[in-house]
Formats: sequence, C-alpha cells, structure tokens
Amino acid sequence: MRTTTGWQADGPTATLRRTPLRRRELRPDDLAVRIDYCGVCHSDLHALRAHDGATDRPLVPGHEFTGVVTGTGPAVTRFRTGDRVAVGNIVDACDECPMCRAGQENFCHAFPTLTYGGTDRRDGSATLGGYAREYVVRDRFAHPLPAGLDPAAAAPLLCAGVTVWEPLHALGVGPGSRVGVAGLGGLGHLAVKMAVALGAATTVVSRSPDKAGDARRLGAHEFVLSTDPEQLAGARERFDVLLDTLSVPHDLGPCLRLVALDGTLSRLGHLGPVTVETTDLLIGRKKLSSAGSGGLPATAAMLDFCAEKNITAEIELLPSAQSNQALDRLSRNDVRYRFVLDMSDLD
Ligand SMILES: NC(=O)c1ccc[n+]([C@@H]2O[C@H](COP(=O)([O-])OP(=O)(O)OC[C@H]3O[C@@H](n4cnc5c(N)ncnc54)[C@H](OP(=O)(O)O)[C@@H]3O)[C@@H](O)[C@H]2O)c1
Ligand SMILES: [Zn+2]
Ligand SMILES: [Zn+2]
Repeated sequence: MRTTTGWQADGPTATLRRTPLRRRELRPDDLAVRIDYCGVCHSDLHALRAHDGATDRPLVPGHEFTGVVTGTGPAVTRFRTGDRVAVGNIVDACDECPMCRAGQENFCHAFPTLTYGGTDRRDGSATLGGYAREYVVRDRFAHPLPAGLDPAAAAPLLCAGVTVWEPLHALGVGPGSRVGVAGLGGLGHLAVKMAVALGAATTVVSRSPDKAGDARRLGAHEFVLSTDPEQLAGARERFDVLLDTLSVPHDLGPCLRLVALDGTLSRLGHLGPVTVETTDLLIGRKKLSSAGSGGLPATAAMLDFCAEKNITAEIELLPSAQSNQALDRLSRNDVRYRFVLDMSDLD
C-alpha cells in the first residue's frame, strides 16, 4: 500500500483530524495524483453529519479536486507524470450498462464508485476522498485540466460545476432561454456564470439580500429576494428552466410557481422525498426533474466550455488545516462562494 496524509472524520462529532491514510498500489490503468486543491462541497457537510464515527467506515471528504500526475500504471496512455488533472465525485463505473455506454457513468446501473464513501469495485475497500495529499484514480475518471484554468478556482467545477452544467445542457439552455437559479452558493454561482455564458437571461432567486450585488457582478440580469412575497409574485411563471440548489429540505410549490409554461424545475440541491401538489404541475404543464454529477463526456465538455469562457469558481483559499473551520462557515452560509483547501500544508 501507498501512504499519504489527509483529514478524516474522527468519532461521532465528525471533526476532521489529520491522519495517515492508505492508498492502493497503482493498477495498470491507475494514476497517482498529488492533490493540490480540493473544494469544500455542501455534500461534504451532509456526509459528515450522517457519519457515525463509532460504527461507520472512515470518512475522508472531498470530491472536487485538481492536482498533478505523479505516477502512472503501465496501461495508462492519456496521461503522463507532470500533467495537470482534475477529478470529480465519481471514480469508476461498470463500463457496460446502457448508462455507461451512453456516457452517463454517473447513472451507472451498478452504481458509480463515489470518490469518497464508496466501495472500490475491484478490491472492496472504502474510498477516501480528496481532503488529502494523494489520490489514486482509474485513468478514465481523471480529466486533463485545460491550460488557462487556475487549478484552485477550477477545482469546484468538478462537482458543483458539472452538477449544474449537465441539466443546463440537457434542458437546451441557450440564447433566449430564461433561467432562474435558486440559492446563490457553490452550485448556484457557477450555474449563474454558465447560464449567462450560454446566452440565457439569468435571474438569481435568493433569501440573502446582501448577495444582490454579487449576483449582478456574476452576470445575472435580475435578482429576486425569495423572502419578499411581492418579488416572488412578480416572478411568477418567469423561467423556462429553474435550477434549485438549496441545501435544505423545502416545498416544491414556491419554486414550481416560478416556472413558465412547459418549463422545467430541476431540483439539484437537497436530496430526499418531496411532496408534489399535482396542480402545481398541471397549471402550466410544468416538468419536475433532477440531475446529479456528470458523465465523462459532459464533464470534459464542461471543462472545455469553462476554459473557452474563462469560467471558474469565486473562491476563498484556505490551508487544509482549516478544513473544520471551512465546513463550519459553510454550514452558516458564510462563504462567497466556495472554499477551496490548499493541500500543500500536508507535506
Ligand atoms: N445533485 C448533486 O449531484 C449535487 C452535487 C453537489 C451538491 N449537491 C447538493 O446541493 C446543495 C447545494 O450545495 P452547495 O455546495 O452549492 O451549497 P452552498 O454553497 O451551501 O449553497 C446552498 C445555498 O442554499 C441556500 N440556503 C442555505 N440554507 C438555506 C435555508 N435554510 N433556507 C433557504 N435557503 C438556504 C443559500 O442560498 P441563498 O443565500 O442565496 O438563499 C446557500 O448559498 C447541497 O444540498 C448539496 O448537498 C447536490
Ligand atoms: Zn459535491
Ligand atoms: Zn454502468
């Protein structure tokens, strides 16, 4: 086994503690990656809260990272030592099911291997995430990081970015589309940048009045304060596509009422059961959808698009030793708009 160092949840309090970690020796199609930067996703918080350190397997969060290849297995042809790479929240899939064959490895019928909290398909070990100095990943699931993208600010593209990119793309957003983005956080701010770059008239729907200026700076054309009933009523049936990125459970009704005739609400944020009042769909023939992560072709396309349009996250870069503080501030909505951890303090 190889050894590295990372930040692992320690006991039921889910506080991260600097810990030596094991990584597998390189298989023929593996890369060793020195992780330089890893984004802090709200899903990391959900995972830590659900983690019971007394009984669960070890949890090392982190599923959007960039770094440099430090070693390759003999069958690897796409990468060489020294290449810049990016890895997102899936690291393997079955390759054979209809979803994998369609390039939607994120929906693999045999379930994709998650970057952390998953189980390696070949040796059954628990996957440990990117809050660490090294990761070992199957080459197909690593992406070349396009030249020109800052590696720290690009790290959040690999989860937050592709999670909003796939539905924007699949729902045909382009010039003339009216897009709403509910929740201006990690996912939301990248959704705004991408929707604007795709040519859509883009509106932020937020409960935080102090984000209005940022929304405009990010390129949004309008800002709707969701706590103001008048503003909400004024935005009725305005959006062809509404991406809902809120991190908390909430009713669908208020979001559906913002969707235009034949438009789509894509619920991307908090996962779990929801109740739908059928008439909220009936009135306006509205569609309810969701999405998560991205297949390999969509991830590559998203990275190319971001390189062409110069899109990266707005980040606050912190040493990885401040991972607990970053998570705490994220839980209090005190982030503009993504924390990224600098892993060099793990050397
Ligand atoms: N589908 C997927 O594959 C996928 C992938 C990644 C993340 N996620 C999930 O997507 C959600 C967002 O992730 P993120 O990293 O973007 O989180 P984030 O940066 O914390 O952003 C979430 C936003 O939700 C809004 N919000 C937070 N608390 C709220 C509350 N109590 N009431 C109403 N709105 C609230 C805030 O926006 P305003 O201040 O603007 O209102 C906040 O900025 C999380 O639940 C995460 O687990 C899903
Ligand atoms: Zn994530
Ligand atoms: Zn599959």
